[in-house]
Amino acid sequence: MAEDIKAAAAAAYAAAADHFDALPFWERFGRRTVDRLGLRPGERVLDACCGTGASALPAARRVGPHGTVLGVDLSEPALALARAKARERGLSNVEFRVADVERVDLAPEHFDAVVCVFGVFFLPDMVAGVRRLWRLVRPGGRLAVTVWGPRLFEPATGEFWAAVGAERPDLVGGFHPWTRVTEPAALADLFTRAGAAAPAVVAEAGTHPLADPGDWWTVVLGTGYRATVARLDPEAVARVRAATVARVEARAIREVETNVVYAVAGKPSGARHIGPRP
Ligand SMILES: C[S@@+](CC[C@H](N)C(=O)[O-])C[C@H]1O[C@@H](n2cnc3c(N)ncnc32)[C@H](O)[C@@H]1O
Repeated sequence: MAEDIKAAAAAAYAAAADHFDALPFWERFGRRTVDRLGLRPGERVLDACCGTGASALPAARRVGPHGTVLGVDLSEPALALARAKARERGLSNVEFRVADVERVDLAPEHFDAVVCVFGVFFLPDMVAGVRRLWRLVRPGGRLAVTVWGPRLFEPATGEFWAAVGAERPDLVGGFHPWTRVTEPAALADLFTRAGAAAPAVVAEAGTHPLADPGDWWTVVLGTGYRATVARLDPEAVARVRAATVARVEARAIREVETNVVYAVAGKPSGARHIGPRP
């Protein structure tokens, strides 16, 4: 089951990567997460579940030529786009590596900052996952985890699932791991249980505009809903698309909710890692 979520996530985001750049919120939330870290020139950063580089690239700019950023992700197509963007932006201090963040072999306390934006909910055991990321943070360093808040992409999300349900009721409620942790208290609790006590947690309300009803389908194709679309046959995809876009139009939905929750914890300078390598 755990490997199923991982395989579905890798496949979904491999396919969705080509639509990421049509959705400015990925870059915006990546940049806003990095803004919370107070990165300094020369620092070493890990971006876990880095996708196409939404947080890794602004981090690379912040740490400058003497700093380094390592981005890891399961999706090679996403990383290929991230590498291309790094080249375009003249950033040579960032490396993108295909790896499972639960298995990648990295030295404990190696990083000044570890970032995970919209990735933690893919880890089957989120507490173990955050604990593992926390172990990679050096004493005095910090960990930033960003998740989606409640009602992601509503009111259009409900219309999407209704249209999917008319075709394949078995898929409804199937792949939407981002709903596992959406409240500030739940994210704070996750940090605390992972040993990263007293994070600063901030909930931020937001919206994504739909200039045209068809823009909703770009959201579907450029996000985790792609996993559900991939399980429909092409005729069913066409019907779900038509039905959903028609409902967005009929209800005059002009924007969808993009609420997020940011958490940042600082590791005390005197903290030492105890136990096996993560
Ligand atoms: C919603 S995307 C977010 C990407 C990026 N952080 C951003 O904000 O644009 C989630 C990413 O997590 C990756 N992912 C999921 N599980 C992973 C794992 N166990 N190890 C590495 N990457 C993983 C997926 O491949 C996908 O690219």
